[in-house]
Amino acid sequence: SPSDPDLVERARKAKEKLGDKVFVLGHHYQRDEVIQFADVTGDSFKLARDAAARPEAEYIVFCGVHFMAESADILTSDDQKVVLPDLAAGCSMADMATAEQVAECWDVLTEAGIAEQVVPVSYMNSSADIKAFTGKHGGTICTSSNAKRALDWAFEQGEKVLFLPDQHLGRNTAVRDMGMSLEDCVVYNPHRPNGGLTADELRAAKMILWRGHCSVHGRFSLESVNDVRERIPGVNVLVHPECKHEVVAAADYVGSTEYIIKALEAAPAGSKWAIGTELNLVRRLANRFAPEGKEIVFLDKTVCFCSTMNRIDLPHLVWALESLAEGNLVNRIEVDKETEAFAKLALERMLALP
Ligand code: 13P
Ligand code: SF4
Repeated sequence: SPSDPDLVERARKAKEKLGDKVFVLGHHYQRDEVIQFADVTGDSFKLARDAAARPEAEYIVFCGVHFMAESADILTSDDQKVVLPDLAAGCSMADMATAEQVAECWDVLTEAGIAEQVVPVSYMNSSADIKAFTGKHGGTICTSSNAKRALDWAFEQGEKVLFLPDQHLGRNTAVRDMGMSLEDCVVYNPHRPNGGLTADELRAAKMILWRGHCSVHGRFSLESVNDVRERIPGVNVLVHPECKHEVVAAADYVGSTEYIIKALEAAPAGSKWAIGTELNLVRRLANRFAPEGKEIVFLDKTVCFCSTMNRIDLPHLVWALESLAEGNLVNRIEVDKETEAFAKLALERMLALP
């Protein structure tokens, strides 16, 4: 739907008034009405780097979800303020690993006698607390665009990896990109005593996967892949690695949001694509590439938007920008100093990956 012209004008004016004092970052899953005001768009990795590269901006307005704004705060200087236009824009996956649960897991690994061999690798989609745990225990952060490099690095540091919180990204990277087998992976369930695993199972595993998932990507199924191949002969199936292993195994291409965009930019006219990722991005790409004769469809029509990404809408963005323009700092995301120090260690290890 087209955005309200009055709100568009107000956002434009507030941004103009703020000038270089504000820098607006937009994740690819954001609504069109919000993306039009982003100074840069990107995947989680690119946005983390771009936030860190703007020391002159007093305000970083993050159009994305809470863990992204936290990461931006960690990577920017203390006098820069990160603003999330709606504080309810969280991430259900990040919520699946709490600091208490992860500390308990580490105790279980210690009791099984393997903690010293384990390197934690945490997906960007996690709270600052989890990133701090990761930094404290010698681990790194990864995103969907560098998960293989992060795992290569981790297996140089230790024999086993605790991958959290997305079991699918962990399994897909281990099996698809690193040549491990499904048997090398076990799933740690934080809601069961000892994670639902015996000490022997933990000792035998190479990848200990946290039992978390994305509520959006987890809904694409093998049937959606088979259906679309039947409906559209010659279709290329391209999915995000947060999808289940069976979906990724059946797809033709797998990658982060930035990868998906590049793949479609490079695709020849007349090619057909079914995309398994968030709907705002798929729609935008379908509209953008239709004039070039590229047919792009959503992999499964029963899957919907990421509801928390969608919380950042134009009214919230206008409110945040106008407040800042009037000198009111609203919705600041600020990670406490101790958490920040350890989380930064883990994020910097990611940024230093080859
Ligand atoms: P990327 O943009 O890094 O692919 O992340 C996808 C995602 O789910 C962000 O929430
Ligand atoms: Fe979280 Fe999934 Fe939404 Fe990304 S798409 S913010 S992982 S719930």
